[in-house]
Amino acid sequence: MITWGCQMNVYDSARMTDVLRPLGYTPVADPAAAEMIILNTCHIRDRAAEKVFSELGRLRLIKDEREAQGRKTVLAVAGCVAQAEGEQILKRAPYVDIVLGPQTYHRLPEMVAKAARAGGSVIETDFPAEQKFDFLPEAEAPQTVENVTAFLTVQEGCDKFCSFCVVPYTRGAEASRPVASVLAEARRIVASGVRELTLLGQNVNAYHGEGPDGGTWALAQLAYALAEIPGLERIRYTTSHPRDMGDDLIAAHHDLPALMPFLHLPVQSGSDSILRAMNRGHTADDYRRLVDRLRTARPDLALSSDFIIGHPGETDADFEATMQLIRDVGFAQAFSFKYSIRPGTPAAGAPLQVKEALKDERLYALQALLREQQDAFNDSVIGDVAPVLFTGHGRKPGQMVGRSPWLQPVHVDGPADLVGTIRPVLITQRLSNSLVGNLVEECVPA
Ligand code: SAH
Ligand code: SF4
Ligand code: F3S
Repeated sequence: MITWGCQMNVYDSARMTDVLRPLGYTPVADPAAAEMIILNTCHIRDRAAEKVFSELGRLRLIKDEREAQGRKTVLAVAGCVAQAEGEQILKRAPYVDIVLGPQTYHRLPEMVAKAARAGGSVIETDFPAEQKFDFLPEAEAPQTVENVTAFLTVQEGCDKFCSFCVVPYTRGAEASRPVASVLAEARRIVASGVRELTLLGQNVNAYHGEGPDGGTWALAQLAYALAEIPGLERIRYTTSHPRDMGDDLIAAHHDLPALMPFLHLPVQSGSDSILRAMNRGHTADDYRRLVDRLRTARPDLALSSDFIIGHPGETDADFEATMQLIRDVGFAQAFSFKYSIRPGTPAAGAPLQVKEALKDERLYALQALLREQQDAFNDSVIGDVAPVLFTGHGRKPGQMVGRSPWLQPVHVDGPADLVGTIRPVLITQRLSNSLVGNLVEECVPA
């Protein structure tokens, strides 16, 4: 299983492994040892398809070599490039046996059987009427860091159609898993030792799942129910959209200590005219006000975001408005990308495409500012005692690593049995992207 792209692809790869297990397949690390190779792809930016074809060229050599030794090898392409360019893939790479889009993973066993029988290629990129989660087996091996943290997809797809984005076309319409199915999976994951759960969705806060009471539950309600699971210490969710940040979810950040004070809330731009052109459905000031309300509800909340530089029509003044928003809000962390033309999306054909050199210049300035803010945020916790959830060994012998509530990696010297526990750590030092600290005794207030 080769996985590219977002956390949802990581989760999906684990679920494809689950659905294939009853057929006798287990994951291996080396493609040359694999009876089946699944390339789980991402279409979000740049020359996604080219990258897939070049990887397929490499995998074809492995497949040919194995087959020359009489060992059959099924080659499958899954994920968002498969969905967007399935026909293209079969045309340009006819040695691919299976092409399947993200909503058809439950049909994988059937497709494997068909590919074996027909000796030709099988393609499934329709959006089926049924929800794959109703047909996938129980998640056996949740994707975890040393079985301490895990992802759980609760919502998938997108109805928002931002001007630049392929996701509504590759993942399909917004759909939410029923509450009972999410809670059952969460309980199993926690029973296996996981302490921190990250709920996934392309618009996770647009979650509206069928509740056990027959009503529709929002993400906030789901979070309250999850917080009741004994042993589940930390809850996160990603990615949320500013438009779907309801009062109930903001209140949950106040009420639920388990809801971590770190929120990834992509804004993309700080310019109202670009936000309008992007079809984001809110203004820069709406975002500022939203952040204020979140921080009122949970004063230690830190934010991270995504930015796109050089969307068609972006002027110097628009870019400056983005810089101003960053200065006003203050981000603990952020991802920033040059706008990349995605065929078939509205912005691809827009006039006033921004020149590459100008995008580079703006990205450089923006990343310098974000870097400054990230360093300042990390510096601000030096001298504090933070609860760290330990996830594994650090790079140096005797060193352990964990994560703070704000998703900062924290290194300490300590024993291996720290893994899976939350301990107070005095933060002493900042490295470029992580922190160093010392374990401290839990002090009981007098
Ligand atoms: N649903 C999330 C984003 C999912 S895609 C949201 O609405 O915020 C992850 C990130 O990739 C986006 O936030 C955006 O910053 C970036 N991205 C998406 N399409 C892009 C494109 N065509 N060019 C550059 N960056 C893009
Ligand atoms: Fe893409 Fe916009 Fe949907 Fe996010 S909200 S997945 S950026 S279309
Ligand atoms: Fe990529 Fe699809 Fe995720 S395009 S970012 S793998 S939703």
